[in-house]
Amino acid sequence: MKISLAEPSLPRSGALVVGVSEDRVLSRTAAAVDGKTGGALSRALKSGRFRGAKNQIIELLAPGGIAASRVVMVGLGKAKELDALAAQAIGGTIVGHLGKSGERTAAIAVDSPKGAKLKAVEMAANLAYGARLGSYRFDRYRTKEKPEKKPSLRTLSVMVKDRTAASRAFSRLDKIADGVFLTRDLVSEPANVLYPESLARQARTLTKLGVKVEVLGQARMEKLGMGALLGVAQGSPRQPQLVVMRWDGAARGADKQPLAIVGKGVTFDTGGISIKPSKGMEDMKWDMGGAGTVIGLMRALAGRKAKANVVGVVGLVENMPSGMAQRPGDVVTSASGQTIEVINTDAEGRLVLADALWYTQNRFKPKAMIDLATLTGAIIVSLGHVHAGLFSDNDKLSQDLAAAGQAEGELVWRFPLHAEYDKEIDCDIADMKNVGSGGGAGSITGAQFLKRFTNNVPWAHLDIAGMAWSKKGKPTVPKGGTGFGVRLLDRLVADRYEPK
Ligand code: BES
Ligand code: MN
Ligand code: ZN
Repeated sequence: MKISLAEPSLPRSGALVVGVSEDRVLSRTAAAVDGKTGGALSRALKSGRFRGAKNQIIELLAPGGIAASRVVMVGLGKAKELDALAAQAIGGTIVGHLGKSGERTAAIAVDSPKGAKLKAVEMAANLAYGARLGSYRFDRYRTKEKPEKKPSLRTLSVMVKDRTAASRAFSRLDKIADGVFLTRDLVSEPANVLYPESLARQARTLTKLGVKVEVLGQARMEKLGMGALLGVAQGSPRQPQLVVMRWDGAARGADKQPLAIVGKGVTFDTGGISIKPSKGMEDMKWDMGGAGTVIGLMRALAGRKAKANVVGVVGLVENMPSGMAQRPGDVVTSASGQTIEVINTDAEGRLVLADALWYTQNRFKPKAMIDLATLTGAIIVSLGHVHAGLFSDNDKLSQDLAAAGQAEGELVWRFPLHAEYDKEIDCDIADMKNVGSGGGAGSITGAQFLKRFTNNVPWAHLDIAGMAWSKKGKPTVPKGGTGFGVRLLDRLVADRYEPK
């Protein structure tokens, strides 16, 4: 779908979308169209449940007096609650609705109502952004879908007086959407297509946007002593990869010390010898969600030319059972030198991250290091699919992440870390074991394990197991891979690591 910003005018064909605020208050364009159609809009409003609540929709087909083929009235909710996220949701709702309508073109004339938090330009840009985010589909493998089942909308224009300013605002958001889409694509891709080497190739494509990409193969990782990551990989014939992506956007003379983002990239997690039950195992194709987010984030930052230095590191492995696979009870030596008794081969994400985190802090000495991982089923028990778990002993970094998440509608909820939880992974025969001793708090013990590989660099861990994939669509997040974290971290970079 092509989205553009345009000068206001009444369309000669296709759908016209107008806004109605809570309690059936017509926006300016809605009132004008009501006049031209002999009061058809106000009559329609009287006949149903439509009140103008946020994301409600009612429509008129073939209205007399205007050329548009239909008028869609969309609820804007209460004017004072109409912020950027609300505008995005409205944009996504419009696209979802019109996709099923058979209409090929639509023009949105949603004027910002009196008392709204958003100016017209921001309103238009965010409507367009939400429309783009909501238009995402992963349909690469659907060869027989009937045309009438496919979304019909081809072109969407969002009308606003200052078209130039709105286009400028949208083009920045559009780059972020490119990053979100890349993450969604990667997360949705099945594991026979997406495995460590093919995922590394995907990361390599960022080179054309100016990202420096290095791929470390098995031999390099062996030299670096990454026994924890390599132990997970050894059950699979697929070679593991460690991908380092660098976006050096900081201005000359500015602070060069980077922010580092590290992702778990288990391209398929069978559990290994501690094998998972077959029911639902197909979900484990998205166990590379953390890595997917890091790659999408790098794309967003490079696309919008962020003025910050950001390093993205992803550890890519496939966790398989085989005659070569690591066994419960094996002891591995990580790149940090610390030894780990692998009690459960299904607690593999932390083993991959142990070496990726150590490598990242050691090589880049980052200002802060944030990892994302679909680390534990336990985080879904705690937080469901509403918040990601946040673990950090740095209050400032935690507050910054929470604020960025709030602003982008990607919520995080902070959990505690504590020496008492850390004891759970103490071990008799090695420096630590990879799972707790039965004291519960599985997500926290996972975080305590990771913390041992951060070398005390300011660090935060986001457990996104409940957020990377969604079985239920939302206006700006269709079901499937969500792209969770790209927007949050892009915002963190913009608000906290770029000059104002
Ligand atoms: N990839 C899983 C976590 C997961 C579960 C992600 C469900 C998304 C949905 C992870 O590698 C795992 O298997 N974790 C174990 C840890 C346990 C063995 C300590 C878990 O959560 O059961
Ligand atoms: Mn696992
Ligand atoms: Zn896993």
